[in-house]
Amino acid sequence: MKLLLTTAQGIEDLAKKEVERLINAKVEEKPLGVEGRLLAEVKESFYIDEKGKRREFEIATFLNERSRLLHRVILHLASAKLSSLEEIYNFVYNLEIERYVKVSESFAVRPFRKGEHEFTSVDIAKTVGSAIYDRLSKYGAPKINLNHPSVIFRAELIDDAFFLGIDTTGDSSLHKRPWRVYDHPAHLKASIANAMIDLADIDENASVIDPMCGSGTILIELALKGHEGKIIGVEKYKKHLNGAKMNALAAGVLNKIEFIQGDATKLSQYVERVDIALSNLPYGLKIGRKSIIPKLYMKFFGELAKILEKKGVFLTTEKKAIEKAFEENGFKVKHRRLVGHGGLRVHLYVVE
Ligand SMILES: C[S@@+](CC[C@H](N)C(=O)[O-])C[C@H]1O[C@@H](n2cnc3c(N)ncnc32)[C@H](O)[C@@H]1O
Repeated sequence: MKLLLTTAQGIEDLAKKEVERLINAKVEEKPLGVEGRLLAEVKESFYIDEKGKRREFEIATFLNERSRLLHRVILHLASAKLSSLEEIYNFVYNLEIERYVKVSESFAVRPFRKGEHEFTSVDIAKTVGSAIYDRLSKYGAPKINLNHPSVIFRAELIDDAFFLGIDTTGDSSLHKRPWRVYDHPAHLKASIANAMIDLADIDENASVIDPMCGSGTILIELALKGHEGKIIGVEKYKKHLNGAKMNALAAGVLNKIEFIQGDATKLSQYVERVDIALSNLPYGLKIGRKSIIPKLYMKFFGELAKILEKKGVFLTTEKKAIEKAFEENGFKVKHRRLVGHGGLRVHLYVVE
């Protein structure tokens, strides 16, 4: 069995490590050269429980429940390089769809399209839907149900890479966490928050701060992983800070995080020392006042230098401003990468 797994662009390596830790699988990053995708060849579907007993389990369900870095878990039916709707129709029609679904089960096709094409994602859904319908018609009367289907097929066309699978995640992506009751306008995807946590490689008793914590995504995800050390969130605006508290309450971790309303450019007034800092910094594009960014970063990293003992992981689109602030405040960049977030390429830095 093969699973097509989706995640944010730029964190495929971390998602691969997570999947290999959770299940017995051989994982390929970026199948057909597509970023944000993994193809996992699942070897055996059992695990050994705490008592050393072998237990069978449903791998897709297990990944949907346990993964912190994935967005979707899709049973991979087939993939190929295709470009026209006609090619897509023929490719799908010739697959043994009847092996995977009962004709009596209602189905829908959910499309995803990225790249330059002369057709829309709705055309892809219609084409793939017709091919599946025509194929299944040989075995009975197929039923389409667009609102409440029993089986969701996912058809993705990214440039000329086509993937067809059965989406086990459903219509809401896994990065949309059930704890998010307060929706910050610039909130971070939980998958990327977990990638930052992985890259920080945090000791279990380390103290951790998000000095511009917004709705608390990074800290809540860290607390949910069972982090034992102190967790502190600072946010300038009361509205967001209250939202972060509501989210932490919904996640059941409010008592594990100390939330402080404050200004990150005066950080040393609230905190004497901290081991790790993690933050998705405000970017010009989202806050609409780009000109204040260089000053804000310079002052913030100046303060951070006074209290940070070990490592920091930061996310921003403002490459020039952050690199200047690092340099002038004595931070050394140990790792950097680009991550896809909300249609943007965001720079992720690990500094010491
Ligand atoms: C990109 S958002 C963080 C979003 C957060 N990661 C989440 O998932 O909700 C940046 C946050 O920094 C806050 N902020 C901006 N300037 C600040 C400052 N000087 N001190 C503290 N927080 C600040 C903004 O109010 C905003 O909530």
